[in-house]
Amino acid sequence: MASTARDGFTSTFGVFLATVGSAVGLGNIWKFPSLTGTNGGAGFLLVYLLATLLVGLPVMIVETMLGRAARANAITTFEREAPKGQWWWKSIGWMGFAAALFILAFYSDVAGWVYAYVFKAAFGELTTTDPKAAASIFGGLVSSPGTSVFWQAVVLVVTGAIIMLGVARGIEAVARKLMPLLFLLLLVLCVRSLTLPGSAEGLAFLFRPDFSKITPGVILTALGLAFFKLSVGMGTMLTYGSYFRENQNIPGTTARVMLADLSISLLAGIAIFPAVFAFGFEPASGPSLVFMTIPAVFTSMPGGTLFMTIFFFLTAIASVGAMLSLLEVPVAILAERYGFGRKQAALCTILAVAVFGIPAALSNSVTADLKLFGLNPFDLFDFLSSNVLLPLGGILICLFVGWIYGLPQLRDQLSNHGDLSNAPVINAVFFLVRYVTPLSIAVVLLHGLKVF
Ligand code: PHE
Repeated sequence: MASTARDGFTSTFGVFLATVGSAVGLGNIWKFPSLTGTNGGAGFLLVYLLATLLVGLPVMIVETMLGRAARANAITTFEREAPKGQWWWKSIGWMGFAAALFILAFYSDVAGWVYAYVFKAAFGELTTTDPKAAASIFGGLVSSPGTSVFWQAVVLVVTGAIIMLGVARGIEAVARKLMPLLFLLLLVLCVRSLTLPGSAEGLAFLFRPDFSKITPGVILTALGLAFFKLSVGMGTMLTYGSYFRENQNIPGTTARVMLADLSISLLAGIAIFPAVFAFGFEPASGPSLVFMTIPAVFTSMPGGTLFMTIFFFLTAIASVGAMLSLLEVPVAILAERYGFGRKQAALCTILAVAVFGIPAALSNSVTADLKLFGLNPFDLFDFLSSNVLLPLGGILICLFVGWIYGLPQLRDQLSNHGDLSNAPVINAVFFLVRYVTPLSIAVVLLHGLKVF
């Protein structure tokens, strides 16, 4: 347990697993392939890699550090760590609160599709390699208002129930057991996908960059994905950091989480794109890509129905780990600042998510034409969170650590008060978050949003 009276993760390896549990989710299996497909493939992947290493990882390190230093939620942390009178830093926590609700609004919707696909797979409704048939199965699910809201409700009830069990028992237990299995199944999928006739084109799409496709908008999307993947820029890593152990090596742990997360995304990419080209799917088909292609790959292998069912089940579990970590941001704020019990806080958050989430779930039917900035509710929540709030939160966290918190304190925290000899790493992180990261995010954000 952590040294304070707050609940905390119970072992250093448990910390790693729970953090992987937050990072690995629909972002890997669903968002990464769908964005890579719509943004032109390899060029996007390259920018995403750079954004993860130069921006995502440094932000992850300092965000986690702040949480562990203050041992508090995303708002109270800035109250404790900012100099007296500089109350405005707290707004980072409030932005995180909002981002958590927006992300959960569309995330619960996609998770609902995954839950539904577990049953569809089990009943053998997904055994097709024909793009038209696959598209009509997916279309039938998302365009039915009743069905989409029903599955979203199931997701919210399941996740709410788990979070009420508490940090250590709930999150660790779920995260610990199932990620290795998902990894194995993805490997199997990769082998099948790569041995399909015509798969080479998919590999080229994924790994041979066409630099003309890299526009400011594409760069912003890649940056947003890097934040989203590592669960940074909105207080999740900060809140998880507050449950980290005193002797946890933060740069080491976060780097390993980043590598694990990246490997799963790449495996998902290698499982999907060769098959996309082999079967004649459209790489730019967006959110439906995974739901059409993965069943096709399973269909073309022995025991497909069984493995397909297990795959969607494990993806559903992966989504739970990520959703728990998203919920943890508002829940910790409500519990620690406003005296809510954990159960009450979880319940209120779930209800708030439903308010935003139902319009998102209806985006392929009832609310399809309800547009703001040309985006339906689903796309709007996605865009606002990944492409605006997370990068903005990232800039502010970096500015706070680079210019207010300062190197001596950062050094003390990241070396565990001198126990670790990692000075070069700390100096590099400091240089990055003081200059490189905030500047590059600002340029990408302003360009991507067409401010200049
Ligand atoms: N990283 C998670 C995923 O890839 C999503 C997430 C974003 C979780 C932000 C927490 C905070 O699915």
